[in-house]
Amino acid sequence: MKLAVVGGGSTYTPELIDGFARLRDTLPIEELVLVDPAADRLELVGGLARRIFAKQGHPGRIVTTADLESGVEGADAVLLQLRVGGQAARNQDETWPLECGCIGQETTGAGGLAKALRTVPVVLDIAERVRRVAPQAWIIDFTNPVGIVTRALLQAGHKAVGLCNVAIGFQRKFAALLDVAPDQVHLDHVGLNHLTWERGVRLGGPDGADLLPKLLAEHGDAIASDLHMPKEIVDRLGVVPSYYLRYYYAHDEVVRELGTKPSRAAEVAAMEKQLLEMYGDPALDEKPALLAKRGGAYYSEAAVALASSLLRDTGDVQVVNTYNNGTLPFLADDAVIEVPAVVDANGATPLPVPTLEPLYAGLIAGVTAYEDLALRAAVLDGRATSAQGRNAVFTALLAHPLVGQYTYAEGLTDRLLAHNREHLAWA
Ligand code: G6P
Ligand code: MN
Repeated sequence: MKLAVVGGGSTYTPELIDGFARLRDTLPIEELVLVDPAADRLELVGGLARRIFAKQGHPGRIVTTADLESGVEGADAVLLQLRVGGQAARNQDETWPLECGCIGQETTGAGGLAKALRTVPVVLDIAERVRRVAPQAWIIDFTNPVGIVTRALLQAGHKAVGLCNVAIGFQRKFAALLDVAPDQVHLDHVGLNHLTWERGVRLGGPDGADLLPKLLAEHGDAIASDLHMPKEIVDRLGVVPSYYLRYYYAHDEVVRELGTKPSRAAEVAAMEKQLLEMYGDPALDEKPALLAKRGGAYYSEAAVALASSLLRDTGDVQVVNTYNNGTLPFLADDAVIEVPAVVDANGATPLPVPTLEPLYAGLIAGVTAYEDLALRAAVLDGRATSAQGRNAVFTALLAHPLVGQYTYAEGLTDRLLAHNREHLAWA
């Protein structure tokens, strides 16, 4: 089995390698190619990756290259984990929306739109090149914003599934609280990427007993404090929102908070510098503890599980991003949703979702409309006029439930363009 990781020079990669090494029976990799244009990072990350494999006795070969075509040629699966513009671009996404009194976040709100506009054309170009040299390959997309990027890939006819670690994080946390094995915990997880709620926590599988009421009764304080939300709110909802819902349910509070501290991008950039120094140490042969301070906990396990199900046709259930196809009847079939799905060699097929309460359905519908408009803006190329481009950005922002007013949408559009002009073919 051959796997390629595009963005393989990411400081996150040792997390992935550690998962590949530990879970080699689930996913027997013969060749792993790390593809990245940044030669210096790739050398540091590749060196550590080889030491991790060697220490754990993994027989697979690790190759590093800047050349996408040779790297992905003949691959069975290609993981996309890239960040166009790096932490510097993220820092901007997290900063300028605050000037308008709006959330500055890398995937939610105006910053997320900027990221989508920069990222979708790059990912579509990569996917096209992958298709030429590895037409059979599954594309597993970790690249944010995952919902919009996955929809772009599916719309262009690629064999793609979008993945995020929020669900597996809840699964691991609930399993620990319940003192059961993680694979015994099935989540009634529903929504869009970074806009999800856990409506049930079932033991043994989709038909198991729902232990969410028990979890909330016995561990409500811990669950709510992790989310930085008041316990009374979580109790009143009776479901567990992901921490990204805080950007909605406590928007103004979070805007105030963000205004008083360094951006997450700045924190991460400092951590990345330290991590790369550590990776250069030939004595280091495991993922360093510092990596746990990043948000990507368990993403390697989610990746291994998904790749294994796609490539080995297992037909088990995993939470992924895929076409709605009627699952949420109030959305178009080609909207991308994040729900538990049966995953086999044909891809992901969502399990049925019981009727969703208006409180959740309304927000999901609003954000889906935004994502639809965001993708329309992101696929505009050099044939669009700058007025058309600007209008597409403005419209997407106006549709976003966290923006909604034209004065905000105008101010955000100006700033988005000012900070991202070199990434926009029409600007
Ligand atoms: C979580 C999200 C990812 C996101 C990450 C950010 O894992 O699911 O989509 O990229 O957090 O983590 P960071 O350490 O970069 O802030
Ligand atoms: Mn995510």
